Amino acid sequence: MDKLVISGGLPLRGTVEISGAKNAALPILVGTVLTGAKCTIENVPDILDVDLTLEILEKMGARIVRRHNTVEIDTADVRPGTSPSDLVCKMRGSTYLIGAELGRFLYAKVGSSGGCDFGARPIDQHIKGFEALGASVDARGYFVEAKAEKLVGREIYFDLVSVGATINAILASVFAEGVTVLENAAREPHVVDLANFLNACGANVVGAGTDTIKIKGVKQLHGATYAIIPDMIEAGTYMFAAAATHGRVKINNVIPKHLDSISAKLSEMGVAVEELDDAIIVDATGPLAAINVKTRPYPGFPTDMHPQMTALLCFATGTGRVTEDVYDNRFRYVEELRKTGANIAVSGKTATVEGCGGEGLVGAPMKSVDLRGGAAMVIMGLAVSGRTEITEIHTIERGYNDIVRKLTALGADIRKIAY
Ligand code: EPZ
Repeated sequence: MDKLVISGGLPLRGTVEISGAKNAALPILVGTVLTGAKCTIENVPDILDVDLTLEILEKMGARIVRRHNTVEIDTADVRPGTSPSDLVCKMRGSTYLIGAELGRFLYAKVGSSGGCDFGARPIDQHIKGFEALGASVDARGYFVEAKAEKLVGREIYFDLVSVGATINAILASVFAEGVTVLENAAREPHVVDLANFLNACGANVVGAGTDTIKIKGVKQLHGATYAIIPDMIEAGTYMFAAAATHGRVKINNVIPKHLDSISAKLSEMGVAVEELDDAIIVDATGPLAAINVKTRPYPGFPTDMHPQMTALLCFATGTGRVTEDVYDNRFRYVEELRKTGANIAVSGKTATVEGCGGEGLVGAPMKSVDLRGGAAMVIMGLAVSGRTEITEIHTIERGYNDIVRKLTALGADIRKIAY
């Protein structure tokens, strides 16, 4: 087992390079199944969820060569219903296998997916999409099984904005007869990235990034070479770490537009945020003001930055509030942050933080409960004085590429040690 040991209170200074987006890499790597050909995917982050996805695809028959952040994958011999359930159950991204298998083979059988525990994470909207295209879906018991004589394009109106359901409907409809129209679709950058990848392979997906996406069925896809977009949540996490430690950091290899809501909230807190073409400079040498934030689907403030915001508000002065409007319960991390002396109260969907400018907070032993909760604990450990230890760090390494090396290069005193 490994843990992170941080000696906090040091301002972060310098430059950090952002890696490829986890939540774009997963659907794109699974999306190569639709091509049945050889694809080269570049800027793939070196994270546990990618390792897991590639291991699953290899066991399904894909031939994979991985060199640093480039993955060559040939999915000609991939077979449906062959994903190993013991791996599939470890992450939510496995649900995309259903859409890809159904889209290419008119048949899918995938074990229940896993991922961070935020309360119920149903897939009713995914199923709604598959059934609208003409598939019969059996989601009782351990497996989701979907089959169809043929898939025919239809209008699909999602009852709520769902990234996964939008992605799965795109994957399943690429070869469907006619035109599929997704209404109330998710607008996240990683949905756009998947659409751009599929179009590079010969698909016809129009409107990704808006709430209405049209997919005109095509006969076949070919392989392509495609580079994944930078990870906006990794970037936001480093922006918040710079702010919490009153540092000055240049975050390279980002698409500033994707970070608009994150940059706006930092500016509201009194942080200087300068946008360059493909970089952002965060200068937080002054005091931080407390603010309120509500999570929303993109382009709103991302739920995947909610725990990091709660940690940051502990170093502001005044009462701040984070309201989680996307998930039922994403507050399991709060108990851990409280061990530093932080004054955080959760009531219903809102965490209220009595920010003290970090006064009186001290390092503490914490257990990472999920990916972004763990990231919040890292921010806390970097900003409080004293020693913080964080266990269960595999949850953090699911989505953060090289976090110890990147933070060390920014002047943090952070080590990963076995125990
Ligand atoms: C994706 O999860 C991301 N995961 C999550 O990131 C992210 O938090 C989420 O999108 C929202 O942006 C990946 O991309 C692998 P949703 P997903 O479907 O697709 C409810 C991270 O930290 N819902 O948009 O599962 C659902 O319960 C992870 O990188 C239904 O009710 O999220 C939730 O309350 C954590 N029925 C809300 O919608 C459905 O059929 C949004 O979920 C589907 C979803």
